[in-house]
Amino acid sequence: MEVNVLIAFYSRYGNVRALAETIAEGAREVQGVNIRMRRAADLAPEEVIAHDPRWAAARKEMTEAYSEPTNDDLAWADVIFFGTPTRYGNPTAEMKLVIDKTGPLWVQGALVDKVASVFTSTSTIHGGNESTIIAMLNPLMHLGMIVVTPGYADPIMFQAGTPYGASSVSGPNADQPPTEADLAVARFTGKRVTEHGLMLKLGKEALAKQQA
Ligand SMILES: Cc1cc2nc3c(=O)[nH]c(=O)nc-3n(C[C@H](O)[C@H](O)[C@H](O)COP(=O)(O)O)c2cc1C
Repeated sequence: MEVNVLIAFYSRYGNVRALAETIAEGAREVQGVNIRMRRAADLAPEEVIAHDPRWAAARKEMTEAYSEPTNDDLAWADVIFFGTPTRYGNPTAEMKLVIDKTGPLWVQGALVDKVASVFTSTSTIHGGNESTIIAMLNPLMHLGMIVVTPGYADPIMFQAGTPYGASSVSGPNADQPPTEADLAVARFTGKRVTEHGLMLKLGKEALAKQQA
């Protein structure tokens, strides 16, 4: 059986992107996986982005690498990872807009029972990585998604990350990339959450047969 994985993220400088790409590596360890990587578009005005050459360069590169997530991508997926930097302890407007566009899917119950997980990056250690992830869970519960977190389900979780979701701390200038331990957490999370998506699909098939 195959499992479709969507990794939908927003990133300004590339920290969340690095986590997203490493989550994909972990997901690829699961046999039968198909992966789509998507980056949400910037909402800031062009002149604001142009004032920050690092942001402009990263946006150019990421826009060339990844298209924007669509409702078709969300409907296609069995497993969806949502990645966002923190903004004052909350998700970015860019990722929130991805969620806010899901009305037509919500009406149809099209995201019900899909497996979801959230990951984030902050500048500071206690700068809101956990609150950002938890804030993202609110709409996912409305959509009927089944949230799978890393928990402390692997020894790596005692070295980095949070049990709520993969994360990194990028420092005051957002230029400290995720550490090897952060990436190991992301890889573990990618594999674990994808496996749960596949288990759910296999389990649903088995349930249908048993109840027939
Ligand atoms: C408007 C704004 C608000 C932010 N709020 C927080 C915050 O509450 N806590 C924190 O630690 N970092 C905060 N940050 C920093 C980013 O979340 C952080 O640099 C992140 O690692 C960037 O990820 P990226 O490289 O994927 O864009 C904020 C940044 C901006 C621009």
